[in-house]
Amino acid sequence: MKNIVIMRMIRMASIWCVMILLALGTAWGQTDEGTIPQIIKKDGRHALLVDGQPFLMLGGQAHNSSAWPGMMPQVWSAIKAMNANTLEVPIYWEQIEPQPGKYDFSLVDTLLKQGRQHKVRLVLLWFATWKNGSNHYMPEWMKSDAVKYPNITGKNGQPVDSPSPHTQSAMEADAKAFAAVMGYLKKADPQYTVIIVQVQNEPGSWGSVRDFSPIAQKLFEGQVPTELLKPEVLKALNRPSDAKGTWQEVFGINADEYFHAWSVARYIGYVAAAGKVVNKLPLYVNAALRDPITNPSASTYESGGPTDNVIPIWKAAAPAIDLVAPDIYMPASENALKVIELYSRPDNALFVPEIGSGEEYVRYFYPVLAAGGIGFSPFGIDDNGRGEGKVETETHLASIAQEYAMASPMMRELAKWSFEGKIKSVVEGEDHAEQTIDLGLWQATVSFGASRRNTVQANARPISKAMVIQLGENDLLLIGTLCHFTFRPLGANARKSWQYLKVEEGRYENGEFKLLRILNGDETDWGGPRVGAVPTVLHVTLVAR
Ligand code: DGJ
Repeated sequence: MKNIVIMRMIRMASIWCVMILLALGTAWGQTDEGTIPQIIKKDGRHALLVDGQPFLMLGGQAHNSSAWPGMMPQVWSAIKAMNANTLEVPIYWEQIEPQPGKYDFSLVDTLLKQGRQHKVRLVLLWFATWKNGSNHYMPEWMKSDAVKYPNITGKNGQPVDSPSPHTQSAMEADAKAFAAVMGYLKKADPQYTVIIVQVQNEPGSWGSVRDFSPIAQKLFEGQVPTELLKPEVLKALNRPSDAKGTWQEVFGINADEYFHAWSVARYIGYVAAAGKVVNKLPLYVNAALRDPITNPSASTYESGGPTDNVIPIWKAAAPAIDLVAPDIYMPASENALKVIELYSRPDNALFVPEIGSGEEYVRYFYPVLAAGGIGFSPFGIDDNGRGEGKVETETHLASIAQEYAMASPMMRELAKWSFEGKIKSVVEGEDHAEQTIDLGLWQATVSFGASRRNTVQANARPISKAMVIQLGENDLLLIGTLCHFTFRPLGANARKSWQYLKVEEGRYENGEFKLLRILNGDETDWGGPRVGAVPTVLHVTLVAR
């Protein structure tokens, strides 16, 4: 009898143990469902953490009208063809809120489901109050009420196809809808298929530097807000640290543009903050750029968006926005490299959410990594039914597809090295001249073009690029296309004789370099290793004697 009681007690205890373990398992399962993506910062550099580790967005952006179930197959085949791990895709306010307060998240559901099926992460683009400076994605019930949701007025009273940033009702409506989207994602996407969200698209105004309506004019004649009068903000805007007064008094010839930038950024900052309260996913705003070198008049570009000259205003006005991001449609290396420099700042993680897809643009993938960039994404990857992307799919994506094929298996390593500042790069300039990279004890010289022995056949167009990842003093990874590397000892090594200890060609897999072959003889003589049109990863060790 006593034994039976003991046996029963043991059985009950086992059942309880199993139940407790199951309960703990469920709890662990939920925790394992995902760690929220976030941007971290160290020593002025940034990383996007996805699943708790640095992640590099090897992205592609769909055409504007492609986020419809019937269009998505072309988008996915483009993503597959280009070996991307991230799809940037719009979600449309007009479709999500067809009637005030009535939300339809079927598009979000479709994207989440398909993203998971394809094992591709998503960047959702909230096309709302601003899309390329206009209100074309506002719901119909707003577009048809121009009194309640007005556009801005030009200097001479002319109508401008751009929404007013001074309309409280529009700002509240956008914030409410955006918060609904972010709240929905929080429930529907516990595994973080969506890793970052773009708030609006290229906001600002074409055709007028600011709003000259009576309401805007009154604000313009008022005092500059205190957020912009902090000494560090004034310094960043090249104004005296004690400046105060009206916009005109504080900012002089830049007053119109700075007022508009502040107004647009405040509005979007409000919308972003409403989303952040319910879901802490990283948020960003993309910029239609101005020429980064010539300091042109604001009337020649989209005024009010986060162009390089007003980044400090955006930072002060919209703290809920994690970063502002350049859309690069300037092929010349002088401009594109300047943009990369201007948007990688200690207070701003570099992300290129749009760039042309041709080879001349793809060469900037390397300097973006060298600058600590968290992602790169050519625009318009799919066949949009208008001839763009069609047929071209094989050719226009070929170059980025090869880069992503090289980068995918080492994506986590690249993200980490980029975060740690271990990557240096050069791109072929329009003059095709060779370039050098300083590596402490070594200097690498890179010449561009197809090379044989000691001759280099220049490329017809500037498309080559190279990067060096410094694993140790004498231990380097070289990656590039159509270039020839040579080395020279520097510093403590200067004047010593030296040679290649080993040059290995291979690829990274599961965190380890896997050897394809050792290069020697014709492949490394005549100065050093050369690479052809397909991106190649070389592990090089050097020795000075
Ligand atoms: C930049 C915009 O942000 C995109 O949505 C798209 O309109 C492209 N321009 C077209 O080139």
